[in-house]
Amino acid sequence: MNIQIAIDGPSGAGKSTVAKALAKKLGIIYVDTGALYRTVGYYVWQHETDPGDAQAVEKLLPGIHLEIRYENGVQEVYLNGEATGNRIRTPEMSMYASAVSAIPAVRTFLLDTQREIARKNGVVMDGRDIGTVILPDANVKIFLTASDTCRAERRFLELREKGIQTTMEEVLSDMRRRDRNDSTRTIAPAVAAADATVVDSTGMSVEECVAAIAAIVAAKTGISCDA
Ligand code: DC
Repeated sequence: MNIQIAIDGPSGAGKSTVAKALAKKLGIIYVDTGALYRTVGYYVWQHETDPGDAQAVEKLLPGIHLEIRYENGVQEVYLNGEATGNRIRTPEMSMYASAVSAIPAVRTFLLDTQREIARKNGVVMDGRDIGTVILPDANVKIFLTASDTCRAERRFLELREKGIQTTMEEVLSDMRRRDRNDSTRTIAPAVAAADATVVDSTGMSVEECVAAIAAIVAAKTGISCDA
């Protein structure tokens, strides 16, 4: 079986940075599942549809063909043959993604795509329900979290780096709203799996966080990242 490492947690906890670094060290692929929800949200936005209208969103799903490709080791999601790039990374698309992710039909629609990648490759997969729903038998399950101000600060810097204009206040209030949506929804809420190890990255550098998780991976699988 391919190794499966699930990294779940709220936005801005550092999941993608840590997961990418870990995947590189282990020579396996990094899968950003949030990008899939963002792409569905983007399609819903393109079709001027209310992302909270489950019936309307469900009707749009047959028109979506998603494909994940890796270009120089970087994941790109293709929507009906077209690369989505940074268009799915705006604060507006974060809210669209969060809204559509609460719709059961959307989660079912994305389930196979995620499981299929993990069936074919060793993966470090980041998301909200990887350890609980997508890969319940993952070899390692991490729930990565941090204080909300720490997460908002990281997200703010990340957005600024991408040239996306916003303020710290806006990022923090969007994040709190999204956390509430994501962790209280009835389907696949963003909570730690019973057998996940919770890591709080508040005040940790990227290197410290990667080292802490690499140590958990080594303890659980016997695979050393330094090898
Ligand atoms: O990780 P992200 O911020 O790019 O995710 C965007 C939204 O998608 C997030 O608010 C919740 C949703 N999501 C989800 O419900 N399940 C996942 N596995 C990944 C993301």
